[in-house]
Amino acid sequence: MAVSSVFKAGLFNHKVAVVTGGGTGIGKAISSDLLKLGCTVVIASRKLERLEAAADELRQSIPQSSPASVTPIVCNIRNEEEVKSLVRSVLQQYGRIDYLVNNGGGQFSSPAEHTSSKGWKAVIDTNLTGTFHCCKEVYAAWMKENGGVIVNIIADMWKGFPGMAHTGAARSAVDNLTKTLAIEWAVSGVRVNAIAPGTIVSKTAVENYKEFGPTLFKMSIPFSPAKRLGVPEEISPAVCFLLSPGASYISGATLRVDAGQSLYHSMWEIPDHSAWPQAPEGENLDTLKELLKPKL
Ligand code: ADE
Repeated sequence: MAVSSVFKAGLFNHKVAVVTGGGTGIGKAISSDLLKLGCTVVIASRKLERLEAAADELRQSIPQSSPASVTPIVCNIRNEEEVKSLVRSVLQQYGRIDYLVNNGGGQFSSPAEHTSSKGWKAVIDTNLTGTFHCCKEVYAAWMKENGGVIVNIIADMWKGFPGMAHTGAARSAVDNLTKTLAIEWAVSGVRVNAIAPGTIVSKTAVENYKEFGPTLFKMSIPFSPAKRLGVPEEISPAVCFLLSPGASYISGATLRVDAGQSLYHSMWEIPDHSAWPQAPEGENLDTLKELLKPKL
């Protein structure tokens, strides 16, 4: 991993960040950039082995003589007690939490009609409730009295999320939660923002969709105005910016980092059909039929 950043060296020296899902994909890129900038980073997710391997790799992002460090802590964000214990451990070890990056989440491909209640609840629990747990606990235990910055990572769900209704609903709810917390916690000097990435490719993201992963990601390329996929390293600078003093007047905002993807086509194909309710009979319909009649 290259030790370079577009941001000022030492920008986050002596700051402490918690990054959920910090061991893979976008979370790992965020952690890497924070470390390059001198931050003390705690990466939290469910699997210890994977976290430790990521932490070993991430240590290579730390510039020489930097105060930065990376610590893996196992935490299932769905479980409120585990989140409380995570926050307690970080405060015991490092004495402060300046930044919270809610990146931990996940989903599986499934049209709404085939999504079980269990599958639905699991995705809502991780992406929405997990984010809520982390925000609430970090605020109660530190940011309420001391201020801080929260960045929530959501998704390109602006046109709905056909094929993954559960994550669309959860991410959209986090977008709204971001706005609410920005207002409720302004009194503590806490800024709360979100980032909505376009289609970002990483090893874990592709693997998440099993054998369909490579096709799914390749299929989405024509739907990006950039005509290529994004990479995690194109999300992390936006997170660093929102955490930094450069964003001191930004709160309650969601920044789309998607090369304009959310303004462009939906990937969801609707086959030709005649199931739609007929337009009401009348003058307008007659005019329309006449206008559209094939002319020889
Ligand atoms: N990343 C994905 N799912 C998670 C969970 N339940 N807890 C923490 N990080 C996660």
